[in-house]
Amino acid sequence: MTFALTPERDQELEQILKRYPNRMAALIPVLHLAQDQNGWISEEVVEWASRRLDVPPAHVRGVVTFYTLFNQKPVGKHQVWVCRTLPCALRGAGQLLAHCEKKLGIHAGETTADGKITLRTAECLASCGTAPMMQVDKTYHENLTPEAVDALLDELRR
Ligand code: FES
Repeated sequence: MTFALTPERDQELEQILKRYPNRMAALIPVLHLAQDQNGWISEEVVEWASRRLDVPPAHVRGVVTFYTLFNQKPVGKHQVWVCRTLPCALRGAGQLLAHCEKKLGIHAGETTADGKITLRTAECLASCGTAPMMQVDKTYHENLTPEAVDALLDELRR
């Protein structure tokens, strides 16, 4: 099945293209736009981006596999990213991740059976002063405790 943006997103794409000196330079924001619609970057999305931006498919795949923010397989409705870099690790990120894994019954990199949550790890999300922290979809949650994480995960599963 071929991929195509909705007419609204296609208009957004045209606006993005105006901000860049050439089509290749717009690849990352265009892939984000496609991922917002599709949930992940499938091979169909790679081929679509290649055609739409006149960029070789291998280049598109290279970008998708380099940046962890691009999903290379289907993900849950919500994505939970636990920061694991040193400042967060020193303030309990490891225990927090283990807590999430136990509560959700999955390991990092997996999605709950109900399809609601994908658990991921992240390198520094630039919020070290409020460690430990995690990003849920596009929102930061900081100074986390196991109780705060429980409340967050319960809310996501409703
Ligand atoms: S180390 Fe976690 S936000 Fe920087």
